[in-house]
Amino acid sequence: MPQNPVLANRQGMDHFLYRDGALYAEDVPVAEIAAAVGTPFYVYSTATLQRHFRLFDEALEGMDHLVCYAMKAASNQAILKTLTQAGAGMDVVSQGEYLRAKAAGVPGDKIVFSGVGKTAEEIRVALTGGIRQFNVESEPEMEVINAVALELGQVAPITIRVNPDVDAKTHAKIATGKSENKFGIPIARARDVYAHAASLKGLKVVGIDVHIGSQLTELEPFRQAYQKVAELTETLRADGHDIKRLDLGGGLGIPYTRSNEAPPLPVEYGQLIKETLGHLGCEIEIEPGRLIAGNAGLMVSKVIYVKSGEGRDFLIVDGAMNDLIRPAMYEAHHDIVAVQEPEAGIESRPYDIVGPVCETGDTFAKERNMPPLDAGDLIAFRSAGAYGAVMASEYNSRPLIPEVLVHGDQFAVIRPRPDYDEMINRDTIPEWL
Ligand code: LLP
Repeated sequence: MPQNPVLANRQGMDHFLYRDGALYAEDVPVAEIAAAVGTPFYVYSTATLQRHFRLFDEALEGMDHLVCYAMKAASNQAILKTLTQAGAGMDVVSQGEYLRAKAAGVPGDKIVFSGVGKTAEEIRVALTGGIRQFNVESEPEMEVINAVALELGQVAPITIRVNPDVDAKTHAKIATGKSENKFGIPIARARDVYAHAASLKGLKVVGIDVHIGSQLTELEPFRQAYQKVAELTETLRADGHDIKRLDLGGGLGIPYTRSNEAPPLPVEYGQLIKETLGHLGCEIEIEPGRLIAGNAGLMVSKVIYVKSGEGRDFLIVDGAMNDLIRPAMYEAHHDIVAVQEPEAGIESRPYDIVGPVCETGDTFAKERNMPPLDAGDLIAFRSAGAYGAVMASEYNSRPLIPEVLVHGDQFAVIRPRPDYDEMINRDTIPEWL
């Protein structure tokens, strides 16, 4: 597909382009990877991951800052290593993610721990292994962090996540900044909660945290939220709190279609941060996930059957909702392209593109215009690097699909496809059977 010149320079730019009629991941033909690992699989581009991290890092130049990659978007060890080597910190939301960050070599003082329900055990593991800060989500959680810290003879650095009650104007399932959402404490209660935090000996307040949602395609909601954070910083400082760090969450959206979407650029987002918060002299943290990983990954799948239905044709492919759940869960759009570039002038036709899982929801796209395709042809789902592999399941006893990382002309399997025995033998049989 010819690169759209408007997008070529935007954050959607990636390293999956056609060359001589074939889709490449950097310098590797996607079909070559398919031949080596089988389908379906995820493939990521090192250059795109690095580029997207750099865009954020450069956007905050001139401010003391740390870009903490929200690894919930894609948490393979090889991806984490790529990003930590580029200088990223990490945002984690569970013990598993914390341990993944440590295993990838991320130092504790570059790991922030977010998440609505951290357990005492998770808090203990992070305090023992080293942590930059906990982003506290509620008063009961704050009490538990305090208690665990005292028990370990430590002082836990914390920010408190405030809910600024702004409309992120995104899909309801991924909006987090309205007062009816489960996240953070109401900003109106912040003074009381900070006063209480200051009285707890196991805690050290270091700043404020906010995150209003994901896949935001406008800057305005960020502006509203960050202005409220700026006011709160001044109020809390006047109350005597040492607010030196602002964690601004993630959420900047990506273009999921190549044609008509142009969400704000990281540089514009950085500019907004400077405008709204620059005068406070705080250290800035951001937690982007989707923008770093989303357009750095494809899911590649093979057409199993072309089936003619009443009034439409179905492409039944070997990837399914258990491998990429975003269309079923959020009605999300993913561009889908043929791995072999359609010849110029070839007429496309509408297909319903579906997986083999026994649910109507296992539909990736309806009436999607595609070049004529046959059984055995490869297709690629674009923008699948974030919230793709990490949200996969083994539903219908379909083994998790492999992940591959490309670097220039090299590629490596970074998570192999389990064999069926491996999957089945995880179950254990009780004695009485
Ligand atoms: N920080 C916090 C506290 C978050 O909850 C999230 C995402 C992020 C950072 C990263 O946001 P991002 O930059 O990726 O937008 N599964 C959904 C997205 C869920 C997002 C959850 N939280 C999807 O596939 O669209």
